[in-house]
Amino acid sequence: MKSLKRHFTALAMSACVLLPTSVQAGKVEVLHWWTSGGEARAAKALKQMMEDQGHTWKDFAVAGGGGEAAMTVLKSRAVSGNPPAAAQIKGLEIREWAELGFLTSLEGVADNQNWDQLIPPMISDVMKYEGQYVAVPVNVHRVNWLWVNPDVMDKVGVKVPTTLDEFFEVADKLKAEGYIPLAHGGQPWQDATVFDAVALAELGPEDYRKAFVEHDMDVINSKKMERVFAQFDKVMSYVDDNAAGRDWNTATGMVMEGEAAMQIMGDWAKAEFTAAGQTPGEDYLCAPAPGTSGDFTFNVDSFAMFSLSDEEDVKAQKDLARTILKPEFQTLFNQNKGSIPVRTDMDMGDFDSCAQASMDTFQSSSDDGGLVPSFSHGLATTSHIQGQIFDVVTNFANSDNPDPAKTTDQLASAIQSAM
Ligand code: BGC
Repeated sequence: MKSLKRHFTALAMSACVLLPTSVQAGKVEVLHWWTSGGEARAAKALKQMMEDQGHTWKDFAVAGGGGEAAMTVLKSRAVSGNPPAAAQIKGLEIREWAELGFLTSLEGVADNQNWDQLIPPMISDVMKYEGQYVAVPVNVHRVNWLWVNPDVMDKVGVKVPTTLDEFFEVADKLKAEGYIPLAHGGQPWQDATVFDAVALAELGPEDYRKAFVEHDMDVINSKKMERVFAQFDKVMSYVDDNAAGRDWNTATGMVMEGEAAMQIMGDWAKAEFTAAGQTPGEDYLCAPAPGTSGDFTFNVDSFAMFSLSDEEDVKAQKDLARTILKPEFQTLFNQNKGSIPVRTDMDMGDFDSCAQASMDTFQSSSDDGGLVPSFSHGLATTSHIQGQIFDVVTNFANSDNPDPAKTTDQLASAIQSAM
């Protein structure tokens, strides 16, 4: 009798475990732009964990690095009253969507999982609107990285450059030996990503912040900024002639194959090396972008959650938010994505040397002022001002007759017009 009772209790308990999944399973439609080999592996980790909870994952992937195309598609879907459950929206744009009334509060999940304790305030502030979480952060990407093919460097007999001057010297030698010194794709966001790293190197974190976060005209419209453009022009002169329109991961592939020696790109590029089974320190090297050692331009991916009506879908949406901040997900996803966990309490033992270096610099730079939000990845300013900067930078990069002084004036007026 006793054992029968135990049997029923066990059955009832397993039913309790099973029931929430089968009864409350919902669908989550997730908009993102993670379509490269490495990115897709990372996205799959999230999909898998949602499916393991019985939910249906509806993939809403819009190809295009940097996410401009994805944002355009999202706007038309939202305007027609049919937004996805979650969308990869970053930085100040989260607030822009919240102000328009599209987003839902995640307070229940956030309280329950104690998000305020898990996430650094600098990041949690960006996820909140009127004091409530409306988005969940996924990771921390470092933008100011240099990816290097060590074999090419060895063959030419050059070392990884640590300053822009060293970069120019090394690049000249690489070029003389028939290598493309810098792999790059001529797309506005990639031009801006390189400009972002050069600006940090030339201005230093304090003036970088003044220019791209505070929009201080004394820095924006200055000789220093002219020098940023001049140095950027020089860096871009080491890119091959076929770069127009090239995707960033194709450029990473050129480094992998030894056609090019280096790429300046955020650490989503590392995901491509990881997906190809390569090991940092052996098959490829990661180093701070020249002139930015010790500094860290951060880019946080996050999912903003849209207001939904279907109860089961709301439940699935909350499970998505909860899953993203689970330690298992933080490890699996970030190992594949190239980024580091957004949770501050994670053990980095299972991460590769580039991720460990990234975490170390993230922490040291947050103590010494070297941590700045990346303007080229939407963390520093509004999407409107960012768009204006992109236009100026990309026109300069594509100009036959680039003029740093004139372009600095243009940058100042473009930012001013958008403020
Ligand atoms: C995103 C990354 C993404 C990269 C390339 C960045 O803006 O934050 O998650 O991998 O763009 O598409």
